[in-house]
Amino acid sequence: MTTPDHTANAVPPARPVHGGIKPAELRALGLRPEDCLDFSASVSPLGPPAGVAEAVAAVDLAAYPDPHCLTLTEAIAAHHGSDGVAANNVIVGNGSTEIIHLLTRAYIGTPPAGCSGAALLLTPTYGEYDGAVRISGGWVTTLTAARRETGFTWDVDAAVARIAAERPALTFICNPNNPTGALLGNGELEVMADAAAAVGGLLVVDEAYINLSERYAEASIAALAGRHDAIVALRSMTKDYALTALRLGYAVASPPVIARLAALQPDWSVNGPAQAAGAAALADGGYLERARAAVAASRECVVERLAAVGIRCYPTAANFVLAQVGDAAGLRDGLARRGLFVRDCASFGLPDCIRIGLRPVADCIRLTNAIAAALGDEFAK
Ligand SMILES: Cc1ncc(COP(=O)(O)O)c(C=O)c1O
Repeated sequence: MTTPDHTANAVPPARPVHGGIKPAELRALGLRPEDCLDFSASVSPLGPPAGVAEAVAAVDLAAYPDPHCLTLTEAIAAHHGSDGVAANNVIVGNGSTEIIHLLTRAYIGTPPAGCSGAALLLTPTYGEYDGAVRISGGWVTTLTAARRETGFTWDVDAAVARIAAERPALTFICNPNNPTGALLGNGELEVMADAAAAVGGLLVVDEAYINLSERYAEASIAALAGRHDAIVALRSMTKDYALTALRLGYAVASPPVIARLAALQPDWSVNGPAQAAGAAALADGGYLERARAAVAASRECVVERLAAVGIRCYPTAANFVLAQVGDAAGLRDGLARRGLFVRDCASFGLPDCIRIGLRPVADCIRLTNAIAAALGDEFAK
């Protein structure tokens, strides 16, 4: 009998870097959470919809949550109803992060016939795709947006050629992209999805930020995801409705893909308060429109005020702004000492940039004043 080698996988791949304020850093800086503003995570600037707190309070904390998220799944299907999305086109997860990991376990762990165990990533982008692929035993290939000058957009023809040549089990695209804010139209995404279908793979379109973009109608692919066998659209209710502490996301895809992901999902991964909050959030029909208006006002404020002190912001279709500041790590640390947290983009390969998640205008004025002060400028007065 051979002895299993428990040391072979002893060193797991490094975890991706994420935004969000870490209590350990606050302690080290001697700051209290209530004195800080978080611009390093990009969620709806409105906070949770009005009915959410009441719905959460009504949950029986002594009861197991529904492992199938039936009520919420039906509410999501109804929300996408005009696109022909049914309940068997939807899976709910503990944040869209859980679904990213289910996808890589299912399709990188056991690639479809004719596909490699690779994932093609359109970069620079969200780090969790890379992390999940590696944990699942696969490897990553990348197509990097060639030029900052063109707003970090990708060459779709090059992506199609790479899919045909490399036959990746999964191709990930974040739309709008984190951290650049670049946006592809749904026609371009469909061309890539057809290329993925031709090799038996899937195109995963992470729409974590699409609902907070004024351009969602020209870009969203969720409408097609129920009908196109090679498309998986990911949505983050964490971000759409600021349910950040609860963690909630979902995917829209064809029934066989949903069934394959569901077979791998641990029971009860989506807790009861999150399920109740999600259903209450969807019931607030005007919320997303209001959130998009708030994002637009904050974006204008940040871009204008940073331009006034000579800081370039890249065009963004999302609820965050990528700003070229030079020494991003130094600026980030200086702002953190004042209780203002932005994301330094070194982990994306952009060490001269910070990403600013758009909060309400008053908060954005406080941040841009602090940036100006850090740069020794007088514009804040
Ligand atoms: C592009 C992108 N996708 C997904 C997520 C994860 O979101 P969730 O809270 O739904 O897991 C994030 C979080 O930062 C993200 O930036």
